[in-house]
Amino acid sequence: MPQNIDSILQENRLFPPTTDFAKSATIDESKLQALYQQAEDDHEGFWASLARDELNWDKPFSTTLNSHNAPHYRWFEDGELNVSYNCIDRHLADKADKTAIIFEGEQGDTRHITYAELHRDTCRFANALKAQGVETGDRVVIYMPMVPEAVIAMQACARIGAIHSVVFGGFSAEALKNRIDDASAKVLITADGGHRGGKIVELKAAADKALENCGESLQKVIVLKRTQHDIPMKAGRDIWWSDAIADVNDKCTPVSVNAEHPLFLLYTSGSTGKPKGIQHSSAGYLLGTIMTMKWVFDHRPDDIFWCTADVGWITGHSYVAYGPLAVGGTIMIYEGAPTVPDTGRFWKLCEDHKITVFYTAPTAIRALMKSGDEVPNKYDLSSIRLLGTVGEPINPEAWMWYHEVIGKARCPIVDTWWQTETGANMISPIPGVTATKPGSCTRALPGMALDVVDDEGNSITTPDKGGLLVIRKPWPSMLRGIWGDDARYVETYWGMFDNRFYVAGDSARRDQDGYFWIMGRIDDVLNVSGHRLGTMEVESALVAHPAVVEAAVVGRPDEIKGETIFAYVVLKGERPADGIDDALTLELRNWVGEQIGAIAKPGNIRYADNLPKTRSGKIMRRLLRTIASGEEITSDTSTLENEAILLQLQGKE
Ligand code: PRX
Repeated sequence: MPQNIDSILQENRLFPPTTDFAKSATIDESKLQALYQQAEDDHEGFWASLARDELNWDKPFSTTLNSHNAPHYRWFEDGELNVSYNCIDRHLADKADKTAIIFEGEQGDTRHITYAELHRDTCRFANALKAQGVETGDRVVIYMPMVPEAVIAMQACARIGAIHSVVFGGFSAEALKNRIDDASAKVLITADGGHRGGKIVELKAAADKALENCGESLQKVIVLKRTQHDIPMKAGRDIWWSDAIADVNDKCTPVSVNAEHPLFLLYTSGSTGKPKGIQHSSAGYLLGTIMTMKWVFDHRPDDIFWCTADVGWITGHSYVAYGPLAVGGTIMIYEGAPTVPDTGRFWKLCEDHKITVFYTAPTAIRALMKSGDEVPNKYDLSSIRLLGTVGEPINPEAWMWYHEVIGKARCPIVDTWWQTETGANMISPIPGVTATKPGSCTRALPGMALDVVDDEGNSITTPDKGGLLVIRKPWPSMLRGIWGDDARYVETYWGMFDNRFYVAGDSARRDQDGYFWIMGRIDDVLNVSGHRLGTMEVESALVAHPAVVEAAVVGRPDEIKGETIFAYVVLKGERPADGIDDALTLELRNWVGEQIGAIAKPGNIRYADNLPKTRSGKIMRRLLRTIASGEEITSDTSTLENEAILLQLQGKE
């Protein structure tokens, strides 16, 4: 949530692109207008011609969009291609020796991997997967540190048409188990550990724990040696990555798959307790990432592109593992925390590796801003030409700092709005063309039919009037469904307006210039440090603890993280004095950490005898949010079943 909505409402500073950037940008005003016009005149024709120009097809498509079974849209459905071929092989003719990946570990170890080497390593690992019994269409779960092998594993899956599901390394054993089971995964790829914050992240230990209770589907575990510390290997099930690739061929013919073949599943939080396995396609998804690499990130052959997201999130899929490689770019991968050995690490990496495009989350910007201008000012950031942000609304103060201190007022900032479900950027400035405003993601990209509508689905044309953010026309990189739960797909995204358009779950407004301003979620989804977490997910974890009867979780505005989790808990036994019990709070926080992962640990827990409910038993979260943020309740509360509980919750009793 924005830090201070009133200050954002008044924000109207305009930053036109600098003449220098505009002069060299690949898209200018007239090109952009032509793209908008083509998309407007012929939505399908626009995307068809891009798909023909930008992707290498094994079998060309003849139908562009099949809407017969809407909202189950199918793009380029009779075409065939291979995503890994499009990301790697097609560059070998002229870029075999170009660096594809620059890697730096937290401890300072570095590697450069060329396209030829990436090709060889991906082929080898794809052959290893086949040797372990993985076939086209099988699901493979990847639970890895941020090392090049995570990208190699993803590309290897794509090469043989296996569907990967990357699980963020910060998620717990329980979360990993649920994802393995939901996807009926056959193989798990993990590591002996990863380096983060000066410690070893015990990925294999978590994987072992997850597998204790997993269903039958999981047969093999491939383990990368990253940290070299001792871990147990289970005979017959676990195999070292190095052994798996020891005797395999260096060549692996990419499998031609249908355009609609699922490339991956990625689980994300929704408004129920169970994360959704968002399913993406092959061709449409890749096209979305390629076009946005060009339009939004103004891709140039000599760019060193650093998107700081972990591959466990959609940003790490689209702008680490796929998009930048598909355009033949060079990516930076950093394994560790931004604060090791100090808060200058990101800027040191930018200086050392001559980063040209830097893409990160507002929460990281705010955290780094706190350490003062003198930290980035110690480093030479002159290689950076373009900055990006994603994940949550950026507050104008952080935007200005990013602009002035990191970008030296030279670099455009692309504030990109999109979601796991959209696959690629949807609303964003076009650098060199769009004048930016701090806190606004500006305009929808060509071919993306974003709108703000009222509860009846009518377009809101009044400036600054808030409504629901929707997408009126299908787009190629859109999700294709929720794995194993089609009814939930239709209901969650399309149900509200009879399948007429996609409902993003965000509220937004447009200002007098037509710029979009994202105002927050309309569902029970929190945004903690740019990561989505369902309140129900955290509540389910809390009530699974033997001491807890009921729990309600809300977001509390936080200067760095955007939101933190505030939990109200009703215990089976007596309520502790003053509603505080530090020992139990520690236990419950760790419990939630085990059930979901450290990012889901509540920042605050307050104990109560009951929760504020309406007469029909609905918990009044709005009131809980007000209390959590320390504000006075001004609304009428007389309709509550148990009005008196409010005093207790506010600590006034
Ligand atoms: O609420 C919006 C917020 O993040 C949500 C999507 O979360 P997720 O699927 O995890 O993907 C995050 C990375 C793409 C959105 O519904 N969000 C994302 N980008 C922005 C944003 N809110 C405001 N401005 C953004 N640029």
